Amino acid sequence: MKGIILAGGAGSRLYPLTLVASKQLQPVYDKPMVYYPLTTLIEGGIREFCLISTPHDLPRFQQLLGDGSAWGLSIEYREQAKPAGIAQAFLIAESFIGKDSVTLILGDNIFYGGDSFQRAFADFKTGATVFGYHVHDPERYGVVEFDANGKAVSIEEKPKAPKSNYAVPGLYIYDNEVVDIAKNLKPSARGELEITAVNVEYLRRGTLRVQRLPRGFAWLDAGTSSSLHEASAYVQTIEKRGGIKIGCPEEAAFRQGFVSRTQMDELMIKIPNCEYRDYIAEVVAEAKRLNQL
Ligand code: DAU
Repeated sequence: MKGIILAGGAGSRLYPLTLVASKQLQPVYDKPMVYYPLTTLIEGGIREFCLISTPHDLPRFQQLLGDGSAWGLSIEYREQAKPAGIAQAFLIAESFIGKDSVTLILGDNIFYGGDSFQRAFADFKTGATVFGYHVHDPERYGVVEFDANGKAVSIEEKPKAPKSNYAVPGLYIYDNEVVDIAKNLKPSARGELEITAVNVEYLRRGTLRVQRLPRGFAWLDAGTSSSLHEASAYVQTIEKRGGIKIGCPEEAAFRQGFVSRTQMDELMIKIPNCEYRDYIAEVVAEAKRLNQL
């Protein structure tokens, strides 16, 4: 399974913050936003990534994440010239996807809690798997309607009259058919290749699974200055209470066995003396104590 991180877009709702850095590079408490979706996919066992962003912002992501080898990953980069829709990612990344299945995560979606995604990646064979998350404002999202047996019967993008309170979050898992499906999409009324149109096509083919995310699972949106601030406060609260970090790619890669203890020691030499380094050192020291990894 390959991973695409979509981190483009105009970021206009965060102006003037986005004059300094693109949305997905803004800090969410103690890390750049893109660390969170990247970590979510690493925790799902994904090692091969393609990050898509604007021609203007792509060099900053390359500077931040490099080729991924320090974290036992491979990260390729591709430009999206204009924000022509989320589903365009599959056309831009066609050569990266090759013959594999692929998961797409939006660079401004932050998830925390449980192992729903890990299980979905492990169980995935064909078709598509997307998720449903209960929200109070479904009209802002792709909305999935379920029948009495819990089977998905419709998906609509930002409907004026939502048929349920279940929004589809920005993490999607597809088989290789997604590339052909994306090639046959027509731009929507707002001129975009819609991810919801991809999901509707899988639904039509009878190969779409929609898994409801359980209570206690957190899906945070960080697309406006107010939600960005709330996401930071949430991360701070969880991290402070538990003495753990959310969205720490080094830790996730270490726990997945993508980097060894020796490589972690080497990696730490390059991190300046700071709280983030102390945390990683503690993760490694604990693994040594428990003789794990
Ligand atoms: O967050 C989940 C929602 O994301 C889904 O429920 C919706 O079905 C889906 O359409 C999308 O809705 P948004 O209104 O949040 O999409 P937005 O245009 O804000 O794009 C989401 C992220 O993807 C944003 O960080 C920018 C990036 N993006 C978007 C487009 C359209 C790109 O990098 N390129 C693009 O062409």
